[in-house]
Amino acid sequence: MKIAILGFGTVGKGVYEIVKKANVQTQNLSVSHILVRKNKPRVLKEMTDSIDEIVNDQETDIVVEALGGIEPAHQYILKALEHGKHVITANKAVIAIYLKQFSDAANKHGVKFYFEASVGGGIPWIQGLEKALRIDTVNTISGIFNGTSNFILDQMSRNEESFDEVLAEAQKLGYAEADPSADIDGIDVANKLCISADIAYNINLQDRKKLPIFGIRNITLEDVDFFSQHGYAVKLIGRTHQADNKFDYVVEPTLFAHHSLEANTPDNYNLISLNGETIGKLDFFGQGAGMLPTANAVIQDILDIKEDKDHLKRNFDKKMIYSSEMTKADYL
Ligand code: NAP
Ligand code: HSE
Repeated sequence: MKIAILGFGTVGKGVYEIVKKANVQTQNLSVSHILVRKNKPRVLKEMTDSIDEIVNDQETDIVVEALGGIEPAHQYILKALEHGKHVITANKAVIAIYLKQFSDAANKHGVKFYFEASVGGGIPWIQGLEKALRIDTVNTISGIFNGTSNFILDQMSRNEESFDEVLAEAQKLGYAEADPSADIDGIDVANKLCISADIAYNINLQDRKKLPIFGIRNITLEDVDFFSQHGYAVKLIGRTHQADNKFDYVVEPTLFAHHSLEANTPDNYNLISLNGETIGKLDFFGQGAGMLPTANAVIQDILDIKEDKDHLKRNFDKKMIYSSEMTKADYL
C-alpha cells in the first residue's frame, strides 16, 4: 500500500519513521509522497508541494493528513476522498467541525475515513468507544484529554517550574498544538469531547459556542501548591453525559484527591473513561501526545484499511438538547 503524508512536522515525521521500520515494512507499506510547503527544501525524494500530484497519483491508496488547522486541511481531505483515496487524520480541530461531511464523502466514494490519533494520541480510544457502542449505550465520557495541559500541571506540581517554562518544554517535546492556546484554553479538549460525543450519541455537535469551556491559563504555581497542601491535584477535565435526549458537556479544571487515578496521571498521559450499561466504567490510559505514540495510532488505522477492517458505521442524525441542569450525581 502506498501512503501520502500531508505535513512533515511531529506527526508526519513519526508516521514516516514507523513506516520505515523493518517489521512495518514487511506489511508492504511505503510512502509515495510527502506534502511540504513550497519554500521548504526537498530533503527527501518523496517531497512535493502539489496536492493535485498526490490525489491524481493512481498508485497512492491512503492519504494521511497531518497538517493541522482547518484550511487547507478540510479541502485537502475532501479532495482526497473525492479522488477515491482512503483518508486518515490526527487533526481533531477539523474533524470536530466536519466529521459528518467527511464520513458522508467517504461513504459516497466507497473509501474509509479513520481518525484514531485525533483523540487520546496513542490510546486506542475511538476503537474502544466504538467497541463499547456495539453492545452498550454509552452515557458518560470523561477524563484528561490533553497531554500538554496535563504535562504543564504535573511538572508545576513536581518541579515547582512556572507555567511558561513548562509550556515551552511541552512545545519542544512536540506535545503542544502549533497555537498552544488551544491546549491551555480548553479548546483542544472541547474538540476531542465533541468528536467522542458525536460518535457516542449519534449527534453532530458543530455549534459549541454556548458550551462551557474553561482552560488552565490562569493557574499559578501558588494555586498548585495550595491544592497540594490540602491533598488535591488540579487536572483539566472534559465531561459529557446523556440522558433522555438531553446532554451535558463541560471542559474545566477540576480537583482530584491525591490517591485518585486522575491525580496519578503523569506527564503527557491521558486518562479517558466511558460508562456503558453492561461494561460499567472503563478507563483508557496512555500517552495522549507525542510523535511516536500518535504516529502509532495513525499506522494502526493504516493497517486496519490494509486488512479491510471496517470501523463502526456512524449516524449523526439524532437531535439532543444541551442541558446544564444535570448534577454531579449523573456522572460516574
Ligand atoms: P506540526 O509539528 O506543526 O506539523 C505540521 C506540519 O504541517 C508542519 O511542518 C507545517 O509546516 C506543515 N504544514 C501546515 N500547513 C501546510 C500546508 N498548507 N502545506 C504544506 N505543509 C503544511 O504539528 P503536529 O504536531 O505534527 O500536528 C499535526 C496534526 O496532528 C494536528 O492536527 C494536531 O492537532 C494533530 N495531533 C498532534 C499530536 C501531537 O502530539 N503532536 C497528537 C495528536 C494529534 P510549517 O511548520 O511550515 O507550518
Ligand atoms: N496538543 C495535543 C495534546 C496533542 O497536548 O493533547 C494530542 O492531541
